[in-house]
Amino acid sequence: MEYKTLLSLFLWTGSLLGLSFFSSCHTDPIVVSVPGGGSYPNVNPGSGEECEDGTISFQYEVLPLLVSSCATSGCHDAASHKDGVILDSYENIMEEVKPNKPPSKSKLYQVLVRSGRERMPPPPADPFTQEQIDLIATWIEQGALNTTCSPACDANNHSFQADILPIIQQSCVGCHSGSQASGSVWLETYNDIYPYAINGKLLGTVKHQAGYSAMPPGVQLNDCRIAQIENWINNGAPND
Ligand code: HEC
Repeated sequence: MEYKTLLSLFLWTGSLLGLSFFSSCHTDPIVVSVPGGGSYPNVNPGSGEECEDGTISFQYEVLPLLVSSCATSGCHDAASHKDGVILDSYENIMEEVKPNKPPSKSKLYQVLVRSGRERMPPPPADPFTQEQIDLIATWIEQGALNTTCSPACDANNHSFQADILPIIQQSCVGCHSGSQASGSVWLETYNDIYPYAINGKLLGTVKHQAGYSAMPPGVQLNDCRIAQIENWINNGAPND
């Protein structure tokens, strides 16, 4: 047998045995175990520029929250523009914000802390949580800039309660809850969300994949958040 044939036979056998002769040239994907056996590679997105020193990301924190809670059909999306207010883009949102003044001078902030029917989002929708109100206030205090940095996020953390549910509460629940849930899709509890995790629609919509409606409409979650969702699904979408 020729030397070359021998060498390729050797390499072929090696690769069959799962040995890598060039292991220094490629990095192995991190593997998570799946309940019931098997394993999927854990997705690790290329890291975007991270937000520093407590900077609020307009793109990944403020905008998804406002789109989900306010730029909904019948309220402040471009088609409905209730009271002339559209909250679907930086330019439109800035119409309601006075940068370089205390948050209490901005209409966007004022309506969040009003009571009764004057409050936004109006009842029966839930009011913003204190955490969400603080997020808007801090963003205004920081100059209401069109920041696009990525909030701290580790794709390896994908617990349903600690990581996945907060993403959905911030970016989806505004449209997908209550008596008029968009598309008759409810995403309030684990039991609501699980079927969409398993049928591929949750991932297809947040990845803005062809064949799925892009969700949230007009905004995309940051890569790391999408990877957390993907890893959680790969892990069997447990209620952990
Ligand atoms: C501004 C409102 C709005 C927000 C925010 C929103 N959705 Fe939707 N969603 C809709 C509407 C309207 C539909 C129904 C029409 C359609 O499918 O495009 C829909 C449909 C869907 C569907 C069904 C799609 C299909 O192909 O059957 C899924 C799944 C979904 N949304 C998931 C999400 C997720 C996950 C988020 C958050 C990351 C989200 N949505 C945020 C308005 C919204």
